[in-house]
Amino acid sequence: MLPTLPISRPLAAPAPAGVPGGAELAPPLLVGEHFVAALSFLVAGGAGLVLCADHLALGAFYVPRVAAVVHLFTIGWITLSIFGALCQFLPVAVGRPLASYAVAHLSFASLSLGASLMVAGLFVGSRPLLLSGAAGLSLAFLTFGGNLAVTLFGAKERGLTFWALVGATAAIFVTPAYGVALALQVHDGGLADPFATIGRHAHVAIIGFVLMVMVGVAHRLMPMFLLVHGVSARPGWAALGLYFTAAVLLALPWGGDRVALVAGVLALAGVGAMVVQAAAYYRHRTRRAIDPGMTLAAAGLVGLVVAAALAPFALSRGVTAPRLLSAYFTVLLGSISLFIAGHYYKIVPFLVWNHRFGPLLGKVKVPKVAELYSERLARADAALLVLGLVTLALGVALGSVAVTRAGAVAFTAGALLEVVILARVARTKVATSP
Ligand code: HEM
Repeated sequence: MLPTLPISRPLAAPAPAGVPGGAELAPPLLVGEHFVAALSFLVAGGAGLVLCADHLALGAFYVPRVAAVVHLFTIGWITLSIFGALCQFLPVAVGRPLASYAVAHLSFASLSLGASLMVAGLFVGSRPLLLSGAAGLSLAFLTFGGNLAVTLFGAKERGLTFWALVGATAAIFVTPAYGVALALQVHDGGLADPFATIGRHAHVAIIGFVLMVMVGVAHRLMPMFLLVHGVSARPGWAALGLYFTAAVLLALPWGGDRVALVAGVLALAGVGAMVVQAAAYYRHRTRRAIDPGMTLAAAGLVGLVVAAALAPFALSRGVTAPRLLSAYFTVLLGSISLFIAGHYYKIVPFLVWNHRFGPLLGKVKVPKVAELYSERLARADAALLVLGLVTLALGVALGSVAVTRAGAVAFTAGALLEVVILARVARTKVATSP
């Protein structure tokens, strides 16, 4: 049974909170294809965690199967979500829509195909599949990065979000270079220090691209979602500068452990500044109740603080403490996942509302955005995702296969429930009654 929302009386309803008034919306197909694929990768990633629980509990982070699951999350879920959200968000963020929607469809297709091929290649141990996946992914990153660069070049608004996206664009170009080098050489003994190269690749992508986008996007979206006005953006600027410098230091192919150490300290300070900024938004919100989406986002930020606390120990001990290293990456990527999953609860209902009910505003009574899904169910889902991640990370840290698998099952159930809730939102129909 599809959820239907009755609209009968011709009553004007207030615009839903958080609607970026008057902003141009990207074609629903473009955003929809990114989000549907990203959510499918999230569920596949969860299933991968269940399958690889034994490797994870041993701390065997560098086993190709685990690397495959990592990329289901990092590329399939996180990167596709970011690319999709940017397609939608750029007019609000920088006052200009994405330069080319056709190129965005191309980067979407090569990202989805590339991720599938690379993951399959790592999973079954096929070098041709791995390399063709890496080639597809490189095409995707370069075309999306080019599209974003052209968009930003002509942007009208050059505030924090603009500069964060400029930095993220640079990291989008650098990420495939390390990725392809790893795909070509990581298992051939061609790299002098594979651990260091993987570490640089992962952290340039996470700090320079993912965290940088999070700072930029949060600067525009969090005040809208939490109804905040007049909060200083200074910590956000500090986070941006710190992340950017850290990513540049890590991206440069020279500079040994000392440079990596400086980059690490800067990145940790960046996480601190980003969390201080976000905390200011939460503290000064005018809407007292925190909805399930913003609760999940807050859980993701708390998780980032835990990851930052683990980082110095995990990264200094490296492969000599594999379980600690695996637990660190689990918390880091899991926290980013919670932050993004929370934003889906805000963005998808808004887009559906805007598409289905926006044109009816003022003509008939329309529901509020928050009425498109059950808040209780969404809260239960948020709890399941957080509980799953905490249990998973504890299982890895303790080396228990059973606890790791239980956490993976709970997290995957949470991912599936979110998909079901959002699918019902997307299929909400307008029912007219006499
Ligand atoms: C063009 C895109 C990319 C390519 C071609 C690529 C390729 C690779 C390869 C070949 C490895 C080594 C796998 C192994 O040990 O067998 C690796 C490791 C890793 N990558 Fe990527 N990657 C890409 C994008 C990303 C992104 C965007 C992120 C994060 C947001 C990321 C995070 C990681 C992490 C955390 C590892 C360590 C995983 C492990 O060894 O278990 N990668 N990548």
